[in-house]
Amino acid sequence: MKRVLRQLAGATLRYHHPCRYRSSFARSSAPFVQSRESYEEVDGPEMITSIPGPRSKALIDDLNPIQESRTVHFFADYASSNGSYVMDVDGNRLLDLNCQIASLPLGYNHPAIVAALRNPNNTHLLANRPALGYCPPREFVAMLEDSLLAVAPFKMKQVMTTMCGSCSNENAFKTSFMHYMQQMRGSGSPTDEEIQTCVQNKTPGSCKLSILAFSGGFHGRSSLGALTASSSKVAFKLDLPAFDWPLAPFPQLQYPLEDHIRENREEENRCLAAVEEILDSQLKANCPVAAICVEPIQAEGGDNYASPAFFKELQRLGKAYRALLIVDEVQTGCGATGHMWAHESWQLDEPPDMVTFSKKMQTGGVYVRNGLRPKQPGRLGCTWMGDPAKLLMAVEIIDVILRDRLVDLVRVSGGELLGGLKELENSYSILSAARGMGTYCAVDLPTTEIRDDVIKALHNRGVYVIGSGVRSIRLRPALTLTPRHVGVFLDILDGVLADF
Ligand SMILES: Cc1ncc(COP(=O)(O)O)c(C=O)c1O
Repeated sequence: MKRVLRQLAGATLRYHHPCRYRSSFARSSAPFVQSRESYEEVDGPEMITSIPGPRSKALIDDLNPIQESRTVHFFADYASSNGSYVMDVDGNRLLDLNCQIASLPLGYNHPAIVAALRNPNNTHLLANRPALGYCPPREFVAMLEDSLLAVAPFKMKQVMTTMCGSCSNENAFKTSFMHYMQQMRGSGSPTDEEIQTCVQNKTPGSCKLSILAFSGGFHGRSSLGALTASSSKVAFKLDLPAFDWPLAPFPQLQYPLEDHIRENREEENRCLAAVEEILDSQLKANCPVAAICVEPIQAEGGDNYASPAFFKELQRLGKAYRALLIVDEVQTGCGATGHMWAHESWQLDEPPDMVTFSKKMQTGGVYVRNGLRPKQPGRLGCTWMGDPAKLLMAVEIIDVILRDRLVDLVRVSGGELLGGLKELENSYSILSAARGMGTYCAVDLPTTEIRDDVIKALHNRGVYVIGSGVRSIRLRPALTLTPRHVGVFLDILDGVLADF
């Protein structure tokens, strides 16, 4: 936590965002550099057993009486994992292109993170978990400045830390509702009736407002608000009560995007017309939309893209109907798309109202534009409101991303990855719709069954990936993925596809 300690000593070190919606990485011609504490490069995957191997199977059986274990792919040996390679308990070494569902920014056991956690000066941050809304540690402000604020989206100077991606969206929704009602009341106060009815879950205190989300979107499942806004998987939703909130169609584009410009524009216009109709009908039905919540690239729903023009128009429509724009960057954020934040690529004239994140940032959180904080204190929050131990890691992660120009590396490796996928698509008829931004890439197979078989074959040959949507394979490597790793993956995928 070098910078934080320096800052505490008095020398404030601030990051200045270079220019509107352009990251410093994009403008610089300087080449990226590899981490000074670079990993010991291993030769590639090494497979001793199939996945899961016998030791993993035994542990899965041990876990099963205690908790659900049917989703486990393998048990990992994190102490022996390194960089982009994860070791399992059977001694298999896999190239990890899933990275804990897109949550591992620097690969395994990055020296900078390990050093920060080993530093005895930081022990108190690991040993004492505070209620951040009441008694934050004295380093808290400096840590926020050195991590989340150092890479904040343009014009966003406020950030609230949370526990996870679902919590981030839930707090963004609550902020939107409170803001909407605040605007309706103007300088007035809540009525006695509102105060009395809210604790009985009745209107008008529990007011009739909604969040507009998109079909196929995913915003979390740990809270019923985030789950209501999600629609990517029946298994997550079935049997659970949901708010009566509207869903708009998300564009189903054809790939490659550059070959289908006209059809894709028509498809986006169709969806935008539906959005406008919903905003209007919700208003007329006295359940106005307080916020539109959207992923820059639908992740769990199958790596679905939309154009910058689509998002610009979404923001314009929202403004016309007093609906805030919440951009859910839980999966796209923190560099993986070749931008620190995927929405930077839209070149919006004004920033979104809120940007939610979690995963690679280690802590959940919401960037909030000025003017949205509730009038009274204490209306948002929970016991922990994040975790300084995770912020300690985030300080190192951001430091390494900036120092080693990892977003540049993502663009270079991502170019190789997408180029390679497109070449394979030309060679194998079962592969289609290769698409991606940075190393955030995906490709489709003809059916769910074939997709799952290809994933299984990749696991057994030493590449760890998972699916998204109905028939896509998604790639979510660490930002430290190099063109060399990309070559290893493409060779193995080529071999797998040749067998189908
Ligand atoms: C876009 C998006 N939003 C929200 C979430 C929920 O995050 P969490 O699982 O941390 O609650 C996810 C998780 O995959 C996600 O991909």
